Amino acid sequence: MHWSDLFSVSDDFRYPLNLRPGDASAFFSATSDGDAILAERRHWIASAPSQHLGFLPEAEDALAEAVTFAGLTRTDGTGGLGLVADLGRTLEPDFLLLIGPMLHVVAGCVCFPSMWAPEEKFGLPLASVHAPVPGLNEQLGKHLERFFAQLKPGASWARTNWGLSRSAELNQHPGRNLPRLTAEVSPQDVWLRVEHQSLFRLPGTGAVLFGIRIENVSLAHVRAHPQAGPGLAHQLATMPAATVAYKGLASAKERILELLA
Ligand code: HEM
Repeated sequence: MHWSDLFSVSDDFRYPLNLRPGDASAFFSATSDGDAILAERRHWIASAPSQHLGFLPEAEDALAEAVTFAGLTRTDGTGGLGLVADLGRTLEPDFLLLIGPMLHVVAGCVCFPSMWAPEEKFGLPLASVHAPVPGLNEQLGKHLERFFAQLKPGASWARTNWGLSRSAELNQHPGRNLPRLTAEVSPQDVWLRVEHQSLFRLPGTGAVLFGIRIENVSLAHVRAHPQAGPGLAHQLATMPAATVAYKGLASAKERILELLA
C-alpha cells in the first residue's frame, strides 16, 4: 500500500485493519537499500541486544522453519538467541514469530521499533501485546481472532500502520529517549512513519512470521499531496484523545494541523 492511500477525508479516524493479500517471499527479499539497513541492524544487534532480540525455548521449531524460509545456511550464533541474531543480521525487515491459538510472541529481532520496547513483548499473547493501544482490542480484537483463525498454512497477507515522529531515525526504541513532537515543532522535524507489515503462516509449524519495514516520509511531502495532506489532517482532527496521547501527539496535534493547513 502506498503511503498516500493511508488517509481518508470522508471517514473519521479508526484503527485500520488494512489487510490485503501479500507475498512474504517478496517482502523479505533484499532491496537496493539493503546495505545501509543491514549495517544499521548489525549496529543495534551488537550494541543493544537485550533491547532488540528475544527467544523462548518453545520457538525452536518455528525459528528453524523461519531460518529455512530465509535461506540462511551459515550461522555464526549459538543456540536460539544466536540464531535469532543471525537472522536479524541477514533479513532487512524486523520480524517476530508467534505461535499457538493465542499467538504468543516467542522470538524475534526488532531493531526499528516505533516507540515500543520489543523486550517487553516476548512471552505475551497478541491481545496483551496490543493492550497499550487504547481501544484496539475492543475495536479490532474479534476481527484479529477471526483473521488468524482463518489464516491458512502458506498464506501471506500485508498491512500498513502509520504514526508521526520527530525524526527519520529508524530505531525509535523508547529507551533511547529521542525527542518527541511538541507544540513548537518545525515542519522539517515532522515525519510520517509508515510501517509496512507482512503476516505469513509458515506452512510446516503453523507459526506466524510477522515482518515490519519502516518508511519515512517528510511532512512537506505529505502536505504537497492533494489527497494525503487533507486526509492526514482529517484523521488527526477526528482521532479520539486517548489515541492522540498513545501516538505521542497530545501537545503537537494542533501544531501539526496548522502545518498541514
Ligand atoms: C491483523 C493484524 C494486526 C492489526 C490489525 C494490528 C493493528 C495494530 C494497530 C492499529 C496498532 C496501533 C498503532 C498506532 O496506531 O500507532 C498496533 C500496534 C502494535 N502492534 Fe499490531 N496489529 C496486527 C498484528 C500484529 C502482530 C502479528 C504483532 C506482533 C506481535 C503486532 C504487534 C504490535 C505492536 C508491538 C504494537 C505497538 C504496541 C505498543 O505500543 O506497545 N501487531 N497494531
